[in-house]
Amino acid sequence: MPNELLYSLPNAILDEMNVWMPLLSEHLKLHRGGLDITPKQDCIFRNLDIAARQMDYLTSMIVSAGKSGTNAPRELTGIILPQVITVRDIKLFMYQGIEACEILSIIPPEQADHIRRETDRFIGIIGGPKPTREQLGIPGGDKIVLSVPRLMLPDLSENEKFTALVEEIMFFSHINEEHAHITAMSTKPEIQERLAKKAKEFEKLFNENMHKAKAVEEKHRGLERLINETLKLMKDYRAFGMTLVEATQKCALPGHQLNTWPSLFDHVIREGDYFVELLMLGSKHL
Ligand SMILES: [Fe+2]
Ligand SMILES: [Fe+2]
Repeated sequence: MPNELLYSLPNAILDEMNVWMPLLSEHLKLHRGGLDITPKQDCIFRNLDIAARQMDYLTSMIVSAGKSGTNAPRELTGIILPQVITVRDIKLFMYQGIEACEILSIIPPEQADHIRRETDRFIGIIGGPKPTREQLGIPGGDKIVLSVPRLMLPDLSENEKFTALVEEIMFFSHINEEHAHITAMSTKPEIQERLAKKAKEFEKLFNENMHKAKAVEEKHRGLERLINETLKLMKDYRAFGMTLVEATQKCALPGHQLNTWPSLFDHVIREGDYFVELLMLGSKHL
């Protein structure tokens, strides 16, 4: 059931929806476009297609709500949250099916779980059930994640802000480690070795950043430095991602394309930009 957050923070939730609803729809389209071509997969294909179109329709409602004033998002969230929970269940179904080799897809199980984790985080932030750290793939076991819309970060108490920022840095460091891993695994052998090497360097740097965040939490100091280092890493990674966006759109890579969707890098950059903006907002009054 929606909690009171949902009714008191409409603009902050609207901001989250504006960023994440299109991304959540793209996840469904990645799954749709990743299925094998056998008849067994056709039913799943159709369900994913319908769910993606529904998400696009809901996104168009959010865009209209943003233009019409601040009250509309309160009503909208009540409609949207249960549907996003359904979409999360579809993503969990896809992950479990791919992992068990019941569903045949070119998407590896780790990538399917990545998509499910991003959805669970979003649900917690817009007022749905808050996930545990384990469910989001970060250290901390069954501790419930704070899950605060990024526009509300400046208003938190010092302790809450520390926890929220450390959790977000852990989460997005892990997410970007996986983005870099997926990029490296999508390169063509021999002809795209240089790209694979660069992507693997970022994978390692994001893994180290996740562990730095864990250490900052344990010692309860060093957050400001961690934020600055994370922002620098994100800036470098964005520049790398932009070269991939441009090269894939123009088919300018050696070997023409990577073995993945050309628009995947744009998706990754938008998730990165969201995280950078979150860090800037949250670190303003540290
Ligand atoms: Fe995503
Ligand atoms: Fe992602």
